[in-house]
Amino acid sequence: MTSGPLLVVAIDGPSGAGKTAAGALLAQRIGAVLVDTGVFYRALTVLAMQERVSPDDENRLVELVPRLSAAIRLTAESSPSAEVLLDGRPFGDDIFAPDVDARVSRVASHRAVRAALLDLQRAPAEGRRAVVTGRDVGTVVFPGAVVKIYLDASIEERARRRSRQVGGDGIAVTQSMTRRDALDAGRTTAPLVQARDAIRLDTDDLTVEQVVDRLEVIFQQRVESP
Ligand code: C5P
Repeated sequence: MTSGPLLVVAIDGPSGAGKTAAGALLAQRIGAVLVDTGVFYRALTVLAMQERVSPDDENRLVELVPRLSAAIRLTAESSPSAEVLLDGRPFGDDIFAPDVDARVSRVASHRAVRAALLDLQRAPAEGRRAVVTGRDVGTVVFPGAVVKIYLDASIEERARRRSRQVGGDGIAVTQSMTRRDALDAGRTTAPLVQARDAIRLDTDDLTVEQVVDRLEVIFQQRVESP
């Protein structure tokens, strides 16, 4: 029998809102494992591209899921984080490539695909303190999370941050992001939405450190002195 997550901080929001950067730093400060649930959808998208499976073919996508597994990566520089393995081997940075960005929200739109990935996303947080980032963490993956945060920023600021990360033309990045936002917020299963009990933080005028300072205060108020 599993013990369930000890303490989960759920951070949801659209891409470029700063979830991963803030989540990683918060995880380091509070001694938690970082689980970025987006990498599971990205990994399945890469595998589907390799196997020439359409992002719209729900049944065949689900059949690919058993080839994926989750592990915890330990490095000297940062806190432990969840990674996805394909047939036992880690994916490379190609999961963040623009052609994956262009397909991933279609892959993530299917109810059966989302259901098939849930256990993999939850496993790295089992029995640990975890910071879990994504689109539906506070609503679906960990609805019982002790702290729920919804990070947001204007489309201009989010596109600027993403362009800095991936390079390339700002207009193309904005278009790709707007398309992804619309699919993620418009789907019927687990759409991107702020959980009713989430605290919203607009990060336009905040540095990552300032965001994490606020998150740490919220965490301490909720957890360390409830
Ligand atoms: O967070 P990231 O941009 O890497 O996520 C990639 C895509 O994976 C999102 O645009 C979304 O379609 C999907 N996703 C999701 N639910 C999550 C995390 C990611 O649907 N919890």
